[in-house]
Amino acid sequence: VTGDDDKRRGRGVDWTGVRMPGIDGTTVAVVLGAGGAIGSQTCRALTALGTTIVPVTRVASQGEELADELAAGDRVVPMTADLADSDSLRSVVAELSERRLIPSVLINSAAVGVSRADLLDVSREQFSRLYDVNVVGAFEAIKAVAGMMRSAGRGKVVNVASVAAQRVLVGSSAYGSSKAALISLSQHLAVDLGLYGITVNSVSPGQTPTRLRGWDESAGRPPEPTPPSATADGIPLRRRGALDDYVGAILFLCSSLADYITGVDIPVEGGARLVRAKSY
Ligand SMILES: NC(=O)c1ccc[n+]([C@@H]2O[C@H](COP(=O)([O-])OP(=O)(O)OC[C@H]3O[C@@H](n4cnc5c(N)ncnc54)[C@H](OP(=O)(O)O)[C@@H]3O)[C@@H](O)[C@H]2O)c1
Repeated sequence: VTGDDDKRRGRGVDWTGVRMPGIDGTTVAVVLGAGGAIGSQTCRALTALGTTIVPVTRVASQGEELADELAAGDRVVPMTADLADSDSLRSVVAELSERRLIPSVLINSAAVGVSRADLLDVSREQFSRLYDVNVVGAFEAIKAVAGMMRSAGRGKVVNVASVAAQRVLVGSSAYGSSKAALISLSQHLAVDLGLYGITVNSVSPGQTPTRLRGWDESAGRPPEPTPPSATADGIPLRRRGALDDYVGAILFLCSSLADYITGVDIPVEGGARLVRAKSY
């Protein structure tokens, strides 16, 4: 790990120097939400570890930009899909089959968030949209990819949930409850898919400024978390999470170190759940 500034920006870990058992040149990892902050950092780490990655973005240019940045040739195979659209998910599976890519890892980092809204202003459509992407889309994507993993008799699925599933954020009823549903979905699928050697777990990040949280929307690229400040009150480790903090937990769950772990959620939030925040 390099200096503190880098660490805060989420680029603190030199992934080229890291070895994770079970994550190597034979790994094919599908990453949903790959254009986002956590998703793209996960792709950087996986590429550095030598895997083949399939970054799935809603907009093709995001996947192409990431492929250019990673410069890993045919080890990066960008695809597009909208989690709210069953047809586009089916197309991804068809394209994977066509290219004879059988995923051993699926990381779902895609989600719709909401800027905190007064409960009375949240429409049924807005509420449903969040569930459609964050829960139903996740279910469909896992179902589709697990069908491919099943033939190999192994697989690792990691969903990116949120601390908002357990700890109420004011004005985030749709988002928070959709993430609680995602954790529960992970547990149910862990049981259903255990038979096929597929593990299903989740990681719950704390709050880090990204586009999802309304930061840096215009910049169009993964933004940088703010440095620790008074806003980090209520976090025992006294800083906001950096992207690599989340990536580390995701990769652990994808590695063979976690072969006997399924249906768990790992909170990655500096211990924030343990203490009462000074304010909200
Ligand atoms: N940042 C935090 O504080 C925080 C805290 C807890 C949990 N999380 C979770 O961490 C994950 C990654 O979030 P992030 O912070 O990296 O935010 P982000 O940069 O906004 O990434 C979210 C990604 O989800 C994609 N997405 C949204 N709707 C989609 C759809 N219908 N189909 C396909 N992709 C879709 C977005 O693509 P577009 O660019 O096309 O919209 C974006 O790439 C999310 O699951 C989020 O809920 C984040």
